[in-house]
Amino acid sequence: MRPQPDFLHEFVHGNSDRTLLLLHGTGGNERDLIPLGRELDPNASLLSPRGKILENGMPRFFRRLAEGVFDLEDLKTRTNELADFVAAAVRHYHLAADRVVGVGYSNGANIAASMLLLRPEIMHAAILFRAMVPLIPDKLPDLSSVHIWIGAGDQDPIVPASETKRLVELLRRAGADVTVRFTQAAHGLTNDDVTTARDWLKSR
Ligand code: MLT
Repeated sequence: MRPQPDFLHEFVHGNSDRTLLLLHGTGGNERDLIPLGRELDPNASLLSPRGKILENGMPRFFRRLAEGVFDLEDLKTRTNELADFVAAAVRHYHLAADRVVGVGYSNGANIAASMLLLRPEIMHAAILFRAMVPLIPDKLPDLSSVHIWIGAGDQDPIVPASETKRLVELLRRAGADVTVRFTQAAHGLTNDDVTTARDWLKSR
């Protein structure tokens, strides 16, 4: 038996009750972020699905019409599908449903942000590297018990600082506790992102 609905995924059992939900960027796969997950928390379980959309052969979590222009209907459908998978995987692997931390990079961070806004019951915390505003929900969720760390690059050609600030404001309006950190970097992840996110996670 596998979780239903299913995604191709990697699962690594940890020895604490925390689970990191690892969400890769465009062109990544379920194996990509396993080393990052281990670095962020050596004891957590790791759940790492592969996005189901293919863009020129590159896996993603939802369709886009152009760089930074999202297919909102597909995004909503894919967000719910991913949230249902996480809930099923939590049951299947006997994980603590209230200890799931989303860790997303780029496209993965965008679907994580979408899940926070549309399915707030899935994650109690999130680390979002190079995230954008995925959508504006009709009704803001109550994220008052959710802690979010956002890592942005101050020379990111894909996510300008104004976009990061819009996301921070949106999540704060929903009541989330948001920490934002600008690193001297472009869109790619740096050691500084990882060590700062790891320190933040330790304090959660
Ligand atoms: C997206 O499509 O989610 C963003 O543009 C980031 C990317 O994947 O390049």
